[in-house]
Amino acid sequence: MIVCVCKSVSDRKIRTAIANGAASFDELQFELGVALCCGKCEESVRDVMAQSGVCASRCGVEQRDLAQPVPLMFCERKAA
Ligand code: FES
Repeated sequence: MIVCVCKSVSDRKIRTAIANGAASFDELQFELGVALCCGKCEESVRDVMAQSGVCASRCGVEQRDLAQPVPLMFCERKAA
């Protein structure tokens, strides 16, 4: 199943990248380009990561309760 339409990345590609050592969302973005265009696939990519056990075992992100609202965070970008 295609997870990222913009970059044509399937769940199989994501699982393969994880099996080959991608240990965080940032690494998947770097290797596969997921969530770098429209960003609508981020939640689905993170779901595949969670199903693959990456979040619980390697990146430290805890599974959140989907019924609870997510607090908004604003990040400031600084020019290089
Ligand atoms: S669907 Fe993944 S960046 Fe647009």
